[in-house]
Amino acid sequence: MTVTALAVGGEGIGHLPDGCVVFVDGGLPGDRVRVSVHERRRRFARGRVVERLTAGVEREGGCAVGESCGGCRFQGIPYAEELRWKVAAAMGAMERIAPAVSWPAPEVEGALAVDGWRRRARLAVLPDGRTGYRAARSGGVVAAAACPVLEPALEEVRHTLRPLLAEVAGEVGEVHLERGDDGGIGVLLLARPGAGMRTVERVEGWATREAFPPVVASVVVEAGGRRQTVFGTGRGRWARDGGGDSAWVEAPVGAFAQANAAVNARLRTRVREAVLEVGTSPEVLELFAGSGNFTGTLLAAGCAVTAVEGATEPLAALEDALGGPRLRAVVADLGRGLPREVADGGAAVVVVDPPRTGLSAELVADLCGLGASRLVYVSCDPPTLARDAGRLVAADASWEVVSLALVDAFPRTAHLEAVSVLEHGRRRSGRGRAA
Ligand SMILES: C[S@@+](CC[C@H](N)C(=O)[O-])C[C@H]1O[C@@H](n2cnc3c(N)ncnc32)[C@H](O)[C@@H]1O
Repeated sequence: MTVTALAVGGEGIGHLPDGCVVFVDGGLPGDRVRVSVHERRRRFARGRVVERLTAGVEREGGCAVGESCGGCRFQGIPYAEELRWKVAAAMGAMERIAPAVSWPAPEVEGALAVDGWRRRARLAVLPDGRTGYRAARSGGVVAAAACPVLEPALEEVRHTLRPLLAEVAGEVGEVHLERGDDGGIGVLLLARPGAGMRTVERVEGWATREAFPPVVASVVVEAGGRRQTVFGTGRGRWARDGGGDSAWVEAPVGAFAQANAAVNARLRTRVREAVLEVGTSPEVLELFAGSGNFTGTLLAAGCAVTAVEGATEPLAALEDALGGPRLRAVVADLGRGLPREVADGGAAVVVVDPPRTGLSAELVADLCGLGASRLVYVSCDPPTLARDAGRLVAADASWEVVSLALVDAFPRTAHLEAVSVLEHGRRRSGRGRAA
């Protein structure tokens, strides 16, 4: 068959001889392939490429395990093609999922660098101390001798940690690496079930004998649900920029941080500009605030921010660093909707940056009742953004999507970040309450 398009997940799309749609693992648009079908449902099938007869675009170089490790679908593919396919797949999915939404033409922002951009990664540990990624469907581990998308500093630490990982491989199943904004590298070792203090002691022993490379700022072992800091403070340092007035937020190693530092700076600018279009220093309700990646920028722009987040420690770190009369931090499970203390409204703008699962139906309903004139929705999964925009518009037809940006924060992978602005018609144009 010929692969005619790309699906959002990165599979190729083709048709079986009987017309059934098939999602093809390993197939890219334009490829002529032989496919083995391993799943057949009423409306679609899934298969994988067994032979590529002709290639739609020329593959050149790229990572040796790019097609099997589950991370990078587009290694060796010209980046312009990758971006074009990903944008077409995202827009196709969004229009299909939310046909009632009138989607504006997206502003597309390509990656700044296609290699060496990832500043945090979770890797599986193999018995010999090598690390690798979990393959997309099999769940097996694919060892990555070199990972071109990891920031070079993380690549280096990954290799220098190998003797330690070989020593504790029976007890440690995964390792999380991150590079904070101050350049310090955080290492979180996730112990296998049953491992306990003995693992912590072995890592400590290794640190005493061998010493961690100087760039390693913190090493934490999580065993039996408990975290033990073995080296450093156990915290990563994240700059919450305030136009030259930077403040460090010290969040626990492993807490959420945007994976692409350069693109994150652009996301912050987009969020700030979308908020300030409503008026000078409007009052903002920020949901899924993490450790304040956008909060810091909004505070620096003079906004008063109510930041809601489910994880206690990152939010406490934000308060420690930036606490003051214009910041209110609320810990709440947003899966249940808005917590009562913020549901009484007052904010002119709502900023949301949920995980891949998007907003719960309860939260969408609560947002409709808030009275905000603008919603800035940051999403790492355009289909769930579409689902939620569709729910908002269905609940209240005065909501309208006024802009959509598709930002490639994850080059070489099938993912895209989206920033969309929704406005509430009746409350638009300066009628939002400013602080
Ligand atoms: C994509 S991250 C965004 C964080 C932050 N805006 C940033 O840019 O770093 C999503 C955040 O939502 C939080 N979260 C996930 N599920 C949640 C829930 N049910 N209630 C509240 N927060 C939740 C996570 O802890 C995480 O900090």
